[in-house]
Amino acid sequence: MLLIAIESSCDETAAAVIRDDGEVLSEVVASQAHLFAEYGGVVPEIASRAHMERILPVIDQAVKRAGIQISDLDAVAVTNCPGLAGSLLVGVVAAKTLALTLGVPLIAVNHLMAHVYACRVAAQKDVFPCVGLIVSGGHTSLYRCAHPLDFTLLGATIDDAAGEAFDKVAAMLGLPYPGGPNIQRAAEQGNPKAYHFPRTFKNDPENLNFSFSGLKTAVRYQLVGEGKHSFESLEISDQQGADIAASFQAAVVDVLATKARQALQKTGMKNLCVGGGVAANGVLRARLESDAKRFGYTFYTAPLKLCTDNAVMGAIAWERYRAGQFEDLDLNFEAGVVRAKNQ
Ligand code: KG4
Ligand code: ZN
Repeated sequence: MLLIAIESSCDETAAAVIRDDGEVLSEVVASQAHLFAEYGGVVPEIASRAHMERILPVIDQAVKRAGIQISDLDAVAVTNCPGLAGSLLVGVVAAKTLALTLGVPLIAVNHLMAHVYACRVAAQKDVFPCVGLIVSGGHTSLYRCAHPLDFTLLGATIDDAAGEAFDKVAAMLGLPYPGGPNIQRAAEQGNPKAYHFPRTFKNDPENLNFSFSGLKTAVRYQLVGEGKHSFESLEISDQQGADIAASFQAAVVDVLATKARQALQKTGMKNLCVGGGVAANGVLRARLESDAKRFGYTFYTAPLKLCTDNAVMGAIAWERYRAGQFEDLDLNFEAGVVRAKNQ
């Protein structure tokens, strides 16, 4: 049996054809990143218009590359939460139309669960039960994942997401959007111990929430302290910029790895699955690999293209199919934000 998964929650328009044994027949991602370079972040209205232009060609490509006819599809899956309202809407309307026309079941995909499920797809074996850490441009949250469809929130950011902090700090340093990969590149030339930036909640294992706004502000004050008063006219020497990038990255990585370990300890779980765009960060991956050995847990993540937004992680829809979890055609999107528990 075959399903098509459609993903349009943020700024990638993606579709994949996936067989019920997990085999991925095709995957297509149309990135919009270049549209947002001049703004330093995603502009929701531009994203939703770009999805409208791309959604049909992307679905078409996914079907063609899979070497099938659209009528061969047995189900349609779509990300309906969380994400940008206008972006989600485009995918949801396309999926409902397709399911109605083909007369096949419609399945809803939760984008955050799918980010964790990307680790299951990559590992090609069961990774549940696990602690799921989702670190992306819009989310930073920890879950107890008893099963692919049974997630309980353990903690989340109370302000910025980790990826957002990467993007904002990159902008402060004059590095282009998306900031994560550019900070990582700049940091390779820098000293991660040059500056000691704050690591909020790090030493409180009972509190599994995150906060990155203070870290962002600390970087800002560091720049001001060095006489860089305006965001627009930063002329920071390469070495200073690299040192700030490396020290900022070290602070984010330290907090993420420590909170993940605290969540493993609290839940007694032995597997850690990390997904979302920031999981593509090489320093974070290296730290989690060494922590896993040191503290005796198994660390799962996915190849870079499955960490950032994609439709292959929509393979989680087969879990819902098997559990009989289908949607009516009145399925709506839920933009939603995952809030910290005590907020
Ligand atoms: O999961 P994703 O593609 O989209 C959302 O659902 O938000 O994540 C995008 C985020 C951006 O903030 C980007 O800067 C960050 O992931 N990112 C990285 C790296 N690659 C992407 N952050 C740190 N290091 C990276 N190598
Ligand atoms: Zn995402």
